[in-house]
Amino acid sequence: MTKLDDKLNYLFYGDNLSVLRDRDYFPKECVDLVYLDPPFKSNQDYNVLFAEKDGEQSAAQILAFEDTWRWDQSAAAAYKDVLKHGGKTAETLKALKNILETSDMMAYLAMMAPRLIELKRVMKPTASIYLHCDPTASHYLKMLMDAVFGAENFRNEIVWQRTSARSDSRKFNHVHDIVLFYTKTDGFIWNVQRTEYSPEYLAKFYRNIDPATGKAFSSSDLLAAGTRKGSSGQPWRGIDPNDVKRHWAIPRFVIEQYGIKAETTQEKLDALDELGLIFWPKDGKRPRFKRFLDDMIGVVLKSIWTDIPPLSAQSKEKLGYPTQKPEALLERIIQASSNPKDTVLDPFCGCGTTVAAAQKLGRRWIGIDITHLAISLIKHRLYTTYKDEPKRKRPKYEVMGEPADVSGARALAEADDVIALETEAALRRCLGRGVTVRELRLDGPVRRARGLDCSNIGRGPVDVGLRRGPVGVGLGG
Ligand SMILES: C[S@@+](CC[C@H](N)C(=O)[O-])C[C@H]1O[C@@H](n2cnc3c(N)ncnc32)[C@H](O)[C@@H]1O
Repeated sequence: MTKLDDKLNYLFYGDNLSVLRDRDYFPKECVDLVYLDPPFKSNQDYNVLFAEKDGEQSAAQILAFEDTWRWDQSAAAAYKDVLKHGGKTAETLKALKNILETSDMMAYLAMMAPRLIELKRVMKPTASIYLHCDPTASHYLKMLMDAVFGAENFRNEIVWQRTSARSDSRKFNHVHDIVLFYTKTDGFIWNVQRTEYSPEYLAKFYRNIDPATGKAFSSSDLLAAGTRKGSSGQPWRGIDPNDVKRHWAIPRFVIEQYGIKAETTQEKLDALDELGLIFWPKDGKRPRFKRFLDDMIGVVLKSIWTDIPPLSAQSKEKLGYPTQKPEALLERIIQASSNPKDTVLDPFCGCGTTVAAAQKLGRRWIGIDITHLAISLIKHRLYTTYKDEPKRKRPKYEVMGEPADVSGARALAEADDVIALETEAALRRCLGRGVTVRELRLDGPVRRARGLDCSNIGRGPVDVGLRRGPVGVGLGG
């Protein structure tokens, strides 16, 4: 039994390994879906967001945002810990260390291994896990995931095209992320996801317009290979399928979809013709079945996702968090691998994209992040999204956990300033403390703040790009 209330959502502030290891909160098999997006070589200069008043930085913040991992004492300890327990994961990690030695990549994998083991423990037998990563790490992570979850539970390597424009001059432009999808067992929750047909597909296959209804349709063959003795091998309207060594083959879904009750193939074909579902090509070729576009339910989603654009600078969703992912990406994952009221866990929840998507889709959620900024941003995100909703529709959640060090505690105490950056005064306080803001959306008027050229700022949302030295301010959408 978990000490967590299953009617509430939770935000944990702390290191996900120690949070997940607390069995009072996370007994085995308590989660339906896990999505994780650990920080890794995104080359973002995150630390600028967290400089403190005296120029110091909180150790926890540095840990979280130093995404170039180093083989240090904690990486070595995580490695030893996994080896102590033996088994496939230990063997895989050992093999990886033979190749990668004490590199940054190895430090990252050593940090991930114990977390993946804990995540597997908390997953229900029907649960899935989606690990978002970079192609430079995905092949190693896949080996680790195979070891922890079993190669037989690997489902997909999803390619998410996250940008269209890059300029890698000496290689093909690298524009995608990888999401590794595994399940705990073979009996996992799965809801087929479909997408709209592309304009190219429609132009190619839905060229015909039905004169009777004006609707676009594609046509498909009503004959299949091989002769048959029963009614499907007999002529219909003077057309004998035997002539071409074939037989009538009406797709089963057509009979079900149109509720056709006829017995013989010929009666079924008559019924379809009466419903206007048979296409008679003018050139006298064999009749075909009309598939009306209006009756189609979209294409089943493939493992390459090119239809979810990254967040643009103008995007309403954008919170200024450097690695923020689009909600549409998380919505797709949550819809495919969970049902309403299921529990979704994001152990590296950042500014709460999973939280926001899960809340929107009526799932219960648990987010964990080691930085106070992430927790504050999520609180702010939920507040602004639901503030105009009636109370019963607003998310009910608790914030749990302790800062990892004194500096983190002080920052937490001051966290409201970060949320309240909607006002000029809050911005002044931040600047006064030496905080450097790179790109934060301010939703209120900002004027005359020290160090800012505010001459062209009016009311309304403003994007502030601000560094030590020259300061630039631009109007946002
Ligand atoms: C790449 S970001 C996640 C972004 C997120 N998907 C979003 O859309 O906002 C990774 C997050 O992991 C957090 N993090 C790093 N190490 C952590 C740890 N040991 N425990 C919990 N969170 C951690 C960082 O603070 C950061 O917010």
